[in-house]
Amino acid sequence: MKKIIITGGAGFIGSHVVRRFVNTYPDYQIINLDKLTYAGNLMNLKDIEQQANYRFVKGDIVDAAFIDELFASEQPDAIIHLAAESHVDRSISNPTEFVMTNVLGTVNLLNAARKYWAGQYADKRFYHVSTDEVYGALAMDSGMFTETTSYDPHSPYSASKASSDHFVRAYHDTYGIDAVISNCSNNYGSHHFPEKLIPLAIHNIKNNKSIPVYGKGENIRDWLWVEDHARAIDVIFHQAKAGSTYNIGGHNEWKNIDLIYLLCQIMDRKLGRAAGESAKLITYVTDRAGHDLRYAIDASKLKNELGWEPSLQFEEGLEKTVDWYLSNEEWLNEVTSGHYQAYYQEQYAKR
Ligand code: NAD
Ligand code: DAU
Repeated sequence: MKKIIITGGAGFIGSHVVRRFVNTYPDYQIINLDKLTYAGNLMNLKDIEQQANYRFVKGDIVDAAFIDELFASEQPDAIIHLAAESHVDRSISNPTEFVMTNVLGTVNLLNAARKYWAGQYADKRFYHVSTDEVYGALAMDSGMFTETTSYDPHSPYSASKASSDHFVRAYHDTYGIDAVISNCSNNYGSHHFPEKLIPLAIHNIKNNKSIPVYGKGENIRDWLWVEDHARAIDVIFHQAKAGSTYNIGGHNEWKNIDLIYLLCQIMDRKLGRAAGESAKLITYVTDRAGHDLRYAIDASKLKNELGWEPSLQFEEGLEKTVDWYLSNEEWLNEVTSGHYQAYYQEQYAKR
């Protein structure tokens, strides 16, 4: 029986990873460790929270003493580390928070792993979930990121993720910790916090609010269905060699403005609006500072070595995503009003 601590399991991708592991591996004990920041929401896990192999622990990875105690009491076999500050725009207005959680929080987990797993690294695993943004930006038509592309982060967010990747590799190389890293492209799907482009646009279109498009909308992102990311993490966690890195991506590049027009078309159809109605909400706004032009992932190593491929076409995935948001109004209302935070803070204050 494996005991796995999944950090950041109340967030967007983390909740899909927790759900997948809880449902797929009834013999594993899954502990979801999350601080429940604005981005963490236990409503994301309502469907599995009663399962016998799942537990939630509220805690902050920046608190080294807490992390040390957690390792001492739980004796985990593995960490799948997703907890992070994840929004680029927030990193521009408050970089220090990103250093604390993404860099120091990761180092705290590595220190606990080093201490409690000493002498048994071969039976343990530290899986760090990272991003393609560490590689910087590509020109419009020039290649893709591979696992050997040099790091060149531009935003405080990507600099903090690059730094945490370096620490994970350093702990593997220096102390022999069994560590693996994956760098994934932009995810989309259910439970995505509506500060990110796709859920923000869905929310605004639904409510007849403007859709803010940064700059000329020409930046390109490579979109992956979040459940395909969770499946890739499962495959890499179980099959990758210690010290290895895998890129994960959808081979699915979209200019922001083209994506927004597609979304507007889908929303017009779903909401019974005249064709072109939602697109009237598109509003060009000041560009993001240091806005990376293009991301594109070469995920051939993952396909060739471990047999993983994306399962969904983007148009189908986007349609499913819109359906999820339209039929989960309560989730969207709670999240946009911040009610969930007050509710869960109160629940934990009572304990
Ligand atoms: P998210 O912002 O939705 O969720 C982050 C979670 O981490 C939240 O539940 C939050 O409460 C928790 N958290 C934050 N600070 C914490 C702390 N100090 N201690 C404990 N928990 C804390 O993020 P996401 O989009 O699900 O991303 C998850 C991970 O995947 C991140 O590491 C991110 O860098 C990486 N990633 C994201 C994407 C993407 O497209 N969203 C793509 C590639 C990689
Ligand atoms: O590439 C992986 C990364 O993808 C992850 O590591 C990050 O955690 C995740 O947030 C995401 O980063 P992006 O900055 O690419 O995602 P975001 O949804 O914020 O923006 C997507 C694109 O849309 C980007 O080019 C900026 C643009 N944008 C974004 C918002 C929020 C807009 O034009 N308008 C907006 O309102």
